[in-house]
Amino acid sequence: MTHFGNYEEVARNFSWAISEQELDYQPGQVINIGWYCSDRICQQGKADKVALIWEGFTGEKKIFTYNDIRVYSNTFARFITDLGIKAGERICLFMDRVPELYIGFLGILKTGCIVQPLFSAFGEESLFVRLENAETSAIFTQRKHVSKVRKIRDKLPHLKHIIIVDYDGKSPLQERELAFSMEKSEKVEHYEIYPTYAESPSVLHYTSGTTGMPKGVKHVHYSLISQYITAKWVLDLHDDDIYWCTADPGWVTGTSYGIIGPFSLGVTQCVLDSGFSAEAWYRFIEKNRVTVWYSAPTAIRSLMKAGDEIIKKFDLSSLRHLASVGEPLNPEAVNWSIRVFGKPFHDTYWQTETGCIVITNFPGMPVKPGSMGRPFPGITAVILDPNKHEPYPEPGRIGLIGLKPGWPSMMRTYWNNEEAYRNKFRNGWYLTGDRARMDQDGYIWFVGRDDDVINTGGHLVSPFEVESALLEHQAVAESAVVSKPDPINMEVVKAFVTLKPGFSASKDLELDIMNFIRKKLSPLAMPQEIEFVDSLPKTRSGKIMRRILHAREWGEEVGDTSTLENE
Ligand code: WT7
Repeated sequence: MTHFGNYEEVARNFSWAISEQELDYQPGQVINIGWYCSDRICQQGKADKVALIWEGFTGEKKIFTYNDIRVYSNTFARFITDLGIKAGERICLFMDRVPELYIGFLGILKTGCIVQPLFSAFGEESLFVRLENAETSAIFTQRKHVSKVRKIRDKLPHLKHIIIVDYDGKSPLQERELAFSMEKSEKVEHYEIYPTYAESPSVLHYTSGTTGMPKGVKHVHYSLISQYITAKWVLDLHDDDIYWCTADPGWVTGTSYGIIGPFSLGVTQCVLDSGFSAEAWYRFIEKNRVTVWYSAPTAIRSLMKAGDEIIKKFDLSSLRHLASVGEPLNPEAVNWSIRVFGKPFHDTYWQTETGCIVITNFPGMPVKPGSMGRPFPGITAVILDPNKHEPYPEPGRIGLIGLKPGWPSMMRTYWNNEEAYRNKFRNGWYLTGDRARMDQDGYIWFVGRDDDVINTGGHLVSPFEVESALLEHQAVAESAVVSKPDPINMEVVKAFVTLKPGFSASKDLELDIMNFIRKKLSPLAMPQEIEFVDSLPKTRSGKIMRRILHAREWGEEVGDTSTLENE
């Protein structure tokens, strides 16, 4: 049984108070995410239930119960408090996906400090601009990453403490450095949690825009109200589930649904701290009997590329519900998952700024492959006329996705950048920066980023539409479609394509692909050129950075590339 019944009925009767009641939260009371994700679950009699099954890249395994994460997050919190760090200060987590990252996250929240998770793969410059902008007081990191912090600490007067979580005593600690071992420190059974309230800041996530500096998205403890109920209803999490979210907590998916959602529900989740390999992923699902799997289109396409044969080697029958986020989920990927897993990936749409899933395919609701689904109850999502910023009166037209502000996990501001924040609103609507259309049934179809839509001779072309067509060709592994300058049409469509093993680039293949997609696309949407490449530029979270390809075509500045995977 899914938690979700008939869409119209649920939407009609929905109020965020449903979530508040399930969490026993009364408006005006103290609300602390760290407490909700550990102490409260123990109080519900689940102290000995497994919270986290962790596997490292060497195959090392660790298991933590809810009582373990309660006590260890207390241990983190006490250590921070003893350093004299005060509520409201920013503390960065700069680690691989080790247990300390997940548990430290809760510990920081228990102190009332703001947690700033950053990808451990960031280079020193990317790290520097984010620590400088947030005036971060302390950073938790690992031995293998501390050299990057050492290179920039002199330029960071606010950074008082550099804490190494796996110090082995071999080389001496340097200026401002401290060692802290979560497991070897004296266990802290009782820690007095800082009384945070609904509007107390909780998490600061940095997100890259099309231009300029990355922006710090500020969230508050009240975000839990959205994250809890969306994790429960959309990811369909039940008490006996084994959940796997493949996202890194350097990205909002890895915190909202890789820490807060599952732990506030008292669910068992597993984490694999290693890079992508189809074989390793399937083995991980088989071994842990994963039931709910939340991943991303780029990973799904990589699995598709690895082929169907390999799937037969594993028992993946435990999988019950699949979901995806981050970029358009091509119909081809949905159909593939139905074929190989017997169930579709459910697309979910949201942003760092929204803090929770806002548009989605609910479990049990018929999936239209290629559509992002319908707004989460409690979220008002509309398609706005881009010129007037008013909702279109009729379905079917392409416009901007606008959201009515006010849901619990909406960002409260961009850190130190109130102006950029205010710029995101028009006529009382929050502008997501994405374009889409809504069909007669209320399903929303993604078209592209506001700045990715290609206008060729006055005709709007969705890069997603062209990419989806390309992906259906047997030789195509991945594709990215951008515009390139054209004297007559202003813009024409250009496709970048990577090939599956066994295919090589040639004029004949280009012609073959063109003929293949010609049948699927309107003539105006046809690429004028296909360029075969070895790889596509991607963010660390796996999103294809079309704007880099776009900039190249237009001879423009590439802008901020700090989240680029191959930096
Ligand atoms: C942007 C937000 C919250 C996790 C996602 C990363 C794109 C997200 C989808 C989807 C098409 C999607 C949008 C959005 N996006 N989900 N299901 N279909 N596009 O958060 O890094 O803030 O990126 O990702 O363009 O605005 P983010």
